[in-house]
Parts: sequence; structure tokens; C-alpha cells
Amino acid sequence: MAEEHQQYRRIILMGPPGSGKGTQGAILSQKLGLHTYSAGELLREATQSGSREGLAIKKIIDKGNLVPAKYIVNRIKAKLMEPENLKGYILDGFPRTLQQAKVFERLQHKSFFKQNHLQVDLVLLLQVPDEYVLERILGRSSCATCGTLYHEKFKPTKVFGVCDVCGGKEFTKRADDTYETVVSRLRNYRSVTAPVIPYYEEKGLLVCVDGTGPIDVVSEKIRKIVGY
Ligand code: AP5
Repeated sequence: MAEEHQQYRRIILMGPPGSGKGTQGAILSQKLGLHTYSAGELLREATQSGSREGLAIKKIIDKGNLVPAKYIVNRIKAKLMEPENLKGYILDGFPRTLQQAKVFERLQHKSFFKQNHLQVDLVLLLQVPDEYVLERILGRSSCATCGTLYHEKFKPTKVFGVCDVCGGKEFTKRADDTYETVVSRLRNYRSVTAPVIPYYEEKGLLVCVDGTGPIDVVSEKIRKIVGY
């Protein structure tokens, strides 16, 4: 990792399902003035089109499996090349396989990424044991209007049934937030995503964060690491 006290601005968030990647990504976005791109969110958006590709992606996500790299790599690449992201970016849930990490590494060596200093400078791994995951995911909902994440126990709305951010009154649950799917997502995390951890460790980019405390405690730990 580079010098102490620098502020990191090209950040990857890793961690098992329900570890808080989306929650902490939203906080970091607000504090750093950067976009967070959630691979899961980009894929869920793709399913809305009703296209053949969208339907294929939906089938895979709803079973808790990982979609083929071709569906996600170009989507992320396109986002990172947008002019507003030249000041930095936060990635939630990408790369999630060694293959994706290597493709992403090659991308970062392309002239556009090099010239604009877009190489990843920090990989934050949120560590949460399996027993936290189910409770967090099964209690999750999000505002149907602005997407703000809530949890019935850990992050309820301030006024019952009203989104704190936009005042929306409709909330949705993800189709893949079922017991069976979470078990499968956890299995995939261990077998396919966990090998990405030593990959970034060897590059000196990885910092582990205990993700088990309350949201503000975890975000304070991240604040100190990121340096804002
Ligand atoms: P994705 O959407 O990325 O799902 P995930 O990795 O399973 O992670 P989650 O979004 O469920 O959890 P999170 O870590 O963001 O936690 P959150 O902050 O919401 O991916 C979905 C699917 O898309 C994958 O299964 C796969 O099919 C596909 N996919 C995605 N990326 C892919 C890729 N790169 N390649 C191939 N396929 C891909 O928090 C969860 C809940 O807990 C919330 O309610 C929150 O309020 C609460 N909470 C958060 N932090 C705390 C805390 N500290 N204490 C108490 N509660 C907390």
C-alpha cells in the first residue's frame, strides 16, 4: 500500500454477502464525493430490460450463482471511463473471481487507465462470520424510489414506512434474498471469491476490516483507513 495518511480514492470493497459492502459504499460515496458501482446493482439493472441477456442474468442471480464475466466486465469498464469518474471510484462486488481480477488488472494497464491514474489503490475486505449474514440479508429492504438500504432491526427508517432520504413509502426486497439463495451465495463466496483475497494481499493493496459492529462503528474504522 502507498504512503500513510494519503486519501485513497480508487477502492474495491470485498466481503461475503451481507457484510455491508453496499452500506459502506454509500457512506464512502457521500464522504469522498465518488460514485460507488455495485456489480450486483448493475446486473439487476440489466435484468429490467427484459432482453434475452437480462433474462439469462436474472436466472443466474436468482439461484445465487455468479454470472459469466462477459456480462459484468464491460459494464464496469464503461462506468470507470466516464469523465466524472476520473477523480476516483468505489467498486462493490467486483472483481469477484480470480479471472475477473486478472482481466481488471490488464484493463488498468491500458493507456486510458494509466494516463488518468485510475489504478486501484485500496482493497477493503469486510470480514463478517456466516452467522451474521442470514440475519442481515433476510431483514434487508431498500427504498423503491431512491434505493437507500434499510434493515428492519439494524437500520430501520426514522419514521415507520417512510424513507429517510427521499420520503418514499414503497420498499422492496431482493428476489435473491432467500435462505436457499444466501446459502448458495455463501458457498460461491468461499469457493470462487475468497481466492481473490491473497491475490490483492500479495499486491499490498488489501486491508481487512472487522465488519461485525454497528454500521457507524464499521464506517469509522473505514474512515481511518481511507483517510478522509
Ligand atoms: P450483490 O448485490 O453484490 O450481493 P452480495 O455480494 O451477495 O452482497 P449483498 O448486496 O447481499 O450484501 P452487502 O455486502 O452489500 O451488504 P449490505 O450493505 O446490503 O450481488 C448479487 C448477485 O449478483 C450475486 O449473487 C451474483 O449472482 C451477481 N454478481 C454480482 N457481482 C458479480 C460479479 N462480479 N461477477 C459475477 N456475478 C456477480 O447489508 C446487508 C444488510 O445488513 C442491510 O440491510 C444493511 O442495512 C445491514 N447492515 C449493513 N452493515 C451492518 C452492520 N455493520 N450492522 C448491522 N447491520 C448491517
